[in-house]
This record gives sequence, C-alpha cells and structure tokens, in this order.
Amino acid sequence: MADEKKLFKVTIDNITIEVEAGTSILNAARKIGGDVTPPAMCYYTRLKGSGGKCRTCLVEVSAGSTADPRPMPKLVASCRTNVMDGMVVKNITSERVLEARKGVVELLLINHPLDCPICDQAGECHLQDLSYDHGAEGTRYEFPRRTFEKHALGPYIQLHMTRCILCYRCVYAADQLTNKRVHGVLDRGDHSEIATYIEKSLDNDFIGNVIDVCPVGALTDKTFRFKNRVWFLKPEDAHRDCPKCSGKVTLWYRGDEVFRVTARKDQWGEVEEWICNECRFEKKKTSDWVIDGPTKVSRHSVISANHYVDVKKPHEALPEVMGGRQPRLLMDIHTVSEVNKPDIDLSKINGPAHSNDFKNGSQK
Ligand code: SF4
Ligand code: FES
Repeated sequence: MADEKKLFKVTIDNITIEVEAGTSILNAARKIGGDVTPPAMCYYTRLKGSGGKCRTCLVEVSAGSTADPRPMPKLVASCRTNVMDGMVVKNITSERVLEARKGVVELLLINHPLDCPICDQAGECHLQDLSYDHGAEGTRYEFPRRTFEKHALGPYIQLHMTRCILCYRCVYAADQLTNKRVHGVLDRGDHSEIATYIEKSLDNDFIGNVIDVCPVGALTDKTFRFKNRVWFLKPEDAHRDCPKCSGKVTLWYRGDEVFRVTARKDQWGEVEEWICNECRFEKKKTSDWVIDGPTKVSRHSVISANHYVDVKKPHEALPEVMGGRQPRLLMDIHTVSEVNKPDIDLSKINGPAHSNDFKNGSQK
C-alpha cells in the first residue's frame, strides 16, 4: 500500500526491533527501554531543534546498515542520528561509549558546583543521576570555576547560572511556547550564559515551563525553593478547568500542604503537556484542583521511595509468631528522639509528616 510506513530493523545492545524510517537511534532505544536507552541531557521530545549539544547520548554504530555494513569511525550522538535498515548499535555493551561518557560527565561537571545538599533540584537532577551512573570519582580540573553576575529572571524563576550546562532546552521552550522570547544564550565558549536580554522580566504565561525542562538546578521555582526536599513530598496527579492550558498537573504534597505544582512528566522525565503560570504558581490549594490519584514515578527515582502504587503488602506473620501476645517495646523512639510533638506518633499519622508535626514547627 502506498501509505504504508517503511520499517527499518535496528539492533541495539543485541536487541532487535523495527522502527519507522526517520526514527533517531535514541528514540529506537527508548522503544526498547531500560539500560539500553542512552541518557539524554539536551534532547527533549516536545522541543523542536533540541539535541546535539551535550553528547551524553553518544553510541557506537558497529554496522551502518545492511547496504553498507561498515562501522561508523566515531561515536555518534544518538539523538541526532537516524537509524538505517540493518544498523547495529552498541550502547552499554561498548567500552568506548562508557569511557567517552565518563569524559562527557567530567566535562559537564567542570563548572558545575557540587552544591547538591542545598540545590532544589537534588533528587530529580538528571546530572546527579548521570554522574552516579557514568561519572569518574574525581576531576582533573584545577582551575577556578566560572562565576557570574546575578540575573533577575522575573518574579517566579531563579537562575543559578553556575549550575547551567548550556543544554539550550529553556531557550527552545521560551522560543516555542511564548510569543515574546526575552531570554537566550549570550556570548560564546566559556563565556556563554543564559540571560534575559538587558534583564527583561520573563512574564509570559507559559514561561514557567523552563523550570521543568531544565535538567539541572539552574532554573528553579521561586515559590518553592528551599521550602522542602523533593523526596519528602508526595506527588499526586490533579487537574482543573483552565482556560489557558490543559490544566493537567502534578501537585507535590507534604501532609496536606501543596508545596509546588509542576507539569506531569513521562518516564524519560519530559513534560507531557505544558502548563501555564497560573496553574503552576498561583494554585497551591487542594480546593483549586480535582485529584486524579498518586503520580506514577519511575522506580529509579528517589521520589518513588515509599510511594509505590498497587503494591501488595507482604503477609504479616508477627501475630501468628507471637500467638496472640503483643510485642513488648523496649524503647519508644518518639520519646527518645524528641523530634515530634509529644501527642503525635509519626508512625500513626495519615500520610507523610508535615512541618506542624515537628517540634518548633520544623524537622530537627
Ligand atoms: S538554564 Fe537549564 S535548561 Fe537552560 S540551558 Fe542551562 S541547563 Fe539547560
Ligand atoms: S541528548 Fe544527544 S547530544 Fe544531548
């Protein structure tokens, strides 16, 4: 049939699949999923023109195609290289790739401060994950790191330029989602920086999405930062009837407080549907939303700790073993630690603890 799509066979790390002609190696690998999928710090499915900047997605092409099975001499960026019929690709099965990726991580970290303990992106930072999976133990870089003048990026967004890895995602997002882009990359080489042109404020309705696309903690939410760590929060999908955007979001709860609102993200950490500033920054009450249920977080994320959905609880054997007797507690942690208020038993409260459950209103 004339409109039948042409399919190409590609083998990645010894797994063969068929994908449509014009598919990139990265997207073919994403169809297989798991460890076969190369990491991607700059490519973003919903942003036209993204990819090709960070080189974390490098792979080895050991056979170009059935017609020309010669290997490609250099490693290629999988987000920018399309599959050919009969292509053979190596990702984690290639020593060359793993070695090169280690070098890329070292380069990305040359100017990136190791301030994860105070960075709001910690726990959901793609660079943090990347360096755990592919980084070297140390750096060979001995020179001073880059420093920058502070830039104001409007009322809602904080820029920490020292953390930026120049992936350009926010520039594409601003360009493609707003009709008045006033920020971009200025200068070249190690002087390159994200900035607003002449400190103009980013007040467009959809500009908040740059926070979600930033893979590191360079662009953070001013209404949320320093208020909590993401792994203490419980994400819930919710929606509202919004005249500007889809209104489909994730609410991040601690206890019954909504600490932040973000767009929903897929298993690759990419936004499913863009949301407007009003939904993101102005609607922080449960009553503003219709709750859809707990967010499914990919298992490798620290955020998913203790939040698994549909998990079958293991059979509780203690009552049988004790034969009806009650276990005798030798030490009551709630009394000993003196962290929570005397009348609150943290193991019995409904949902995660929130600031009011602790003494002095805060966690010690
Ligand atoms: S600020 Fe974030 S999204 Fe923008 S270029 Fe830097 S790292 Fe990428
Ligand atoms: S994801 Fe391919 S070069 Fe960045």
